[in-house]
Amino acid sequence: MTTSSTPAKRVTTRALQEMKQKGTRIAALTAYDALIARVFDEAGIDVLLVGDSVANVVQGHQTTLPVTLDEIIYHTKAVTRGVQRAMVVADMPFMSYQVRVDEAFRNAGRIMKETDASAVKLEGGIEYAESVRRMTASGIPVMGHLGLQPQSIHQYGGYRPRGTTADEAEKIISDAEALEQAGAFGIVLEKIPAELAQRVTNKLTIPTIGIGAGAGCDGQILVYADMLGLTVDFNPRFVRRYDQFADRARDAARQYADDIRAGTFPNEHESY
Ligand code: KIV
Repeated sequence: MTTSSTPAKRVTTRALQEMKQKGTRIAALTAYDALIARVFDEAGIDVLLVGDSVANVVQGHQTTLPVTLDEIIYHTKAVTRGVQRAMVVADMPFMSYQVRVDEAFRNAGRIMKETDASAVKLEGGIEYAESVRRMTASGIPVMGHLGLQPQSIHQYGGYRPRGTTADEAEKIISDAEALEQAGAFGIVLEKIPAELAQRVTNKLTIPTIGIGAGAGCDGQILVYADMLGLTVDFNPRFVRRYDQFADRARDAARQYADDIRAGTFPNEHESY
């Protein structure tokens, strides 16, 4: 947190690494616009992810697949304008990095060049290690994302937790090691057993950020609309609601409409 007189010191990949070493937990949230990014930055959130969950939360899609690279760039530009301290990480959308290493590299470069983000995130493990290596060798910090990978939802056929069989667990561990070796600075672990997330966290020198992965990760992330209670019909057990914002916003909007209809808004102090 900062005051107007103390310039904010940006959270960097090195700072996150130090937080892991010191055992200081990393607080992360998604953000998709400057307004909410500023609020979360002022609250001292360390990492703001411009997640491809923007497709669900803002655009009203059922999955994250439809969001485009241009749309992620648009939202990331807005978020970085609202932030002084937090690290801003931009998600690489579906099909922006899966086809070829050079295309992944170019698209990550576009995000970095056009948005002022500090890093990109992509889903997947060893199959993208070459892309991660190429990006990090060129100065583009990369965050990995293992466990439930929402871009693979049609492949999975549902949102069940991942890493629940021995094979899946082994794959997650070896993917995490491959990403670390390729140069990733952190890894999101989504919806995997807490015990597995703890094992991955212990094995890695880079921080893990959990979502539905238990308390043993080096940090936690939630989709901000879930955390604030704006999404009312999505209730996985890993979401803790810190507000019932949808209810409060609805009540406020009703009151506003009532005041207009009653002729009590605006009053003389609200008029010129
Ligand atoms: O897109 C997103 O919001 C994410 C988080 C769930 C980690 O990837």
